[in-house]
Amino acid sequence: MNIETLPIKSGIKKIIIESDGISELYPPQEAAIKQGLLEGKNLVISIPTAAGKTLLAEIAAIQHIMENKGKVVYLCPLRALASEKFRNFKRFQSLGVSVAITSGDYDSKDHYLPRYDIIISTNEKFDALLRHQVSWVEDEVSLVIVDECHLLNDQHRGPTLEILLARLLLRNTQLQIVALSATVGNSEELAEWLKAELVQSDWRPVPLKEGVFYDNYVTYSDFTTRDVIYRQKEALLNLALDSFHSQEQVLIFTPSRRSAVTTANKIGDKIEPLLGPREKKTLSDRAVSLTTNLSDPLSKQLVACIKKGAAFHHAGLNSNQRMIIEDSFKEGIIKVLCATPTLASGINIPAKRVIISSVYRYSVERGSYPIMTLEYKQMSGRAGRPQYDTEGEAILIAKQPHSVRWLMDRYILKDSEAVYSKLAAMPALRRSILGLIASKVIPDIDELLNFFEKTFYGFQYEAVLLEGKIREVIDMLIVWEMIDPLDAGETLRATQYGVRVSQLYLDPETAANIVEGLKTVIENGSSKIHPLAFFDLLVGTPDMVTLMFGKANQAVTERRFDKFATRLIKSAPTKDDIEYDFRLRDFYTALFLWDWVNELPIEKLIIRYKIGSGDIHRITDTATWLTAAISEIASIFAKNNPRYLFIAKKSESLSERVKYGIKSDAVSLTTIKGIGRKRARILLDHGIRNTTQLADLNQSKLANIPGFGIELAKTILEETKKTQESEQDRQLENTGISDFLH
Ligand SMILES: Nc1ncnc2c1ncn2[C@@H]1O[C@H](COP(=O)(O)OP(=O)(O)OP(=O)(O)O)[C@@H](O)[C@H]1O
Ligand SMILES: [Mg+2]
Repeated sequence: MNIETLPIKSGIKKIIIESDGISELYPPQEAAIKQGLLEGKNLVISIPTAAGKTLLAEIAAIQHIMENKGKVVYLCPLRALASEKFRNFKRFQSLGVSVAITSGDYDSKDHYLPRYDIIISTNEKFDALLRHQVSWVEDEVSLVIVDECHLLNDQHRGPTLEILLARLLLRNTQLQIVALSATVGNSEELAEWLKAELVQSDWRPVPLKEGVFYDNYVTYSDFTTRDVIYRQKEALLNLALDSFHSQEQVLIFTPSRRSAVTTANKIGDKIEPLLGPREKKTLSDRAVSLTTNLSDPLSKQLVACIKKGAAFHHAGLNSNQRMIIEDSFKEGIIKVLCATPTLASGINIPAKRVIISSVYRYSVERGSYPIMTLEYKQMSGRAGRPQYDTEGEAILIAKQPHSVRWLMDRYILKDSEAVYSKLAAMPALRRSILGLIASKVIPDIDELLNFFEKTFYGFQYEAVLLEGKIREVIDMLIVWEMIDPLDAGETLRATQYGVRVSQLYLDPETAANIVEGLKTVIENGSSKIHPLAFFDLLVGTPDMVTLMFGKANQAVTERRFDKFATRLIKSAPTKDDIEYDFRLRDFYTALFLWDWVNELPIEKLIIRYKIGSGDIHRITDTATWLTAAISEIASIFAKNNPRYLFIAKKSESLSERVKYGIKSDAVSLTTIKGIGRKRARILLDHGIRNTTQLADLNQSKLANIPGFGIELAKTILEETKKTQESEQDRQLENTGISDFLH
């Protein structure tokens, strides 16, 4: 189908044809149009990787806005994916369509969002907006696009998406749902649940050749073979050299961060001598754009690798580093990219050849286990660049001769599995049931069961199977005082505290753990809490993310834990207790947070805790949210017991400290946009202790302080003024009418 013939506004066609250089729709795209994408029909589009789901979503969204049908929400499972979609959508802004992105801060209603036509959000953030009962979400959204809908199968993240979709299905107002999914075993079932038409196809823009490598041969699925001539000890090196000599870019999926780094290094060593001077120059220029960033060991390793033509990509890197790597690979500058599997989900980064070095993963709960076929298809599907390659190639590596057949059968010749609801998991039920009651969607237990009947779980099984668990959750929520005890009519009502827990997006168990800790503080009559004790309280909750804890960290963590044990809020187990080791694991992350708020330089943190700067963001983001949540919860309790007030204040300031990684004396200065950890400390070292003193400075004096300069001094002084004005406004608003009259 020619783009020109599509029933869409000419401006959209122009951008697709002229900017994207696309003139024909792919066959599955055509099918989606014919099945009613532009006529408001619910659709499940279940087609392979890189078959062009994004373009369909874009056409549907922009046309929807230009026909004034209502707002569009585009849901993504990952922040990185949301950013990529945001960047893509921006090319339509010239048509007068406005696009916003939201993620993070779950407790914010994001008042600016109603001004935008298309809102790109992570699933969790949108769920949080529903909990705040934001009116535009309820009244104005008329198209919801769900990317990577097969995520429903994910133990941790699936239930949020499932509840969210069930809520949308129950809405009275007209709403179109377009779900984009990888090819899964039961897409008909998915479509039936969403009352949607199914667009299904195995068509790929570039044919994919799949094979297994063993003993220097690749055996393909049609049982032809190919000899790889290089004879290094490691299979990956041979395959990488083979690709390099054929001038083919290769994407290697490795099971762990560590293997991504070591593989990139080894391959880099082999291909560096083969690079020409021009290639070397381009690579070293690209490496320079990364060096401005950080000088910790991981960043240094990355720079060294890139100079050699290879790179690694994993969650330990920060988002800027990851973006530079993705772009450099897309541009063909980096020849070999070794990535952990997170890169497989949705980010558009194709390669001529994809190598999957191992199909095994490791987790503490499960030990070593083989991945799903669905995951393999996501990774192998990255192979073959439309517009460049006539064929893509995906290769699995066998370690033993008998694995060749097994890998072939289990991954290459097999279809993807069916997706199953994961709603029955307790943490998911707790969170969603409180959410439903707190946003007054559900008045009683019968209605709750009716609601679960509408979920994918209810569709695949029977909601009544959940009744026992649902009642157990209700009992827990009553004990935790998040909902009122049931009356004779069994009306479900959240307490003020329960509503807040739901809006703060906490797992009810996290809130219950925290409140138990706060009660101990109040009962002990203490008026001081050490920040480390706060962190110790946080790290044991289900919502906190923690650092990897290895044997090497045991002794030092133990020493610090024992030294600090008496000052903790939660009682400290002794070495004989079973939970001692678990507690130590968590305490390690508490120690990291303590070092962070004591302004230990990032480079030192990275070395001490063997992490990357991406981990620092992840952990401090979560801890900022949780410390702010403690403050909110303490403020609610302070209404009946003013002694909670000091906890509220203390945790509010601690939340700021965690956000920026600063000591308490820097809290005032970091309220100014543009002042973070480093600049606040420089100002303090120059005797400027707060925003008032900063506002009193003249521009040239500030510009003379090292690390500032004229331009920065100007913007910072403007920001200081703005901050002070809004603070005055806030104080005025808080002034009661009686104060005003007197
Ligand atoms: N009709 C078309 N003709 C040529 N190229 C196209 C067409 N439609 C999409 N593309 C290009 O193909 C690529 C497909 O990427 P896209 O991100 O949409 O894949 P996807 O279907 O969402 O797969 P994934 O499962 O990886 O999310 C993009 O680079 C896009 O520009
Ligand atoms: Mg996609």
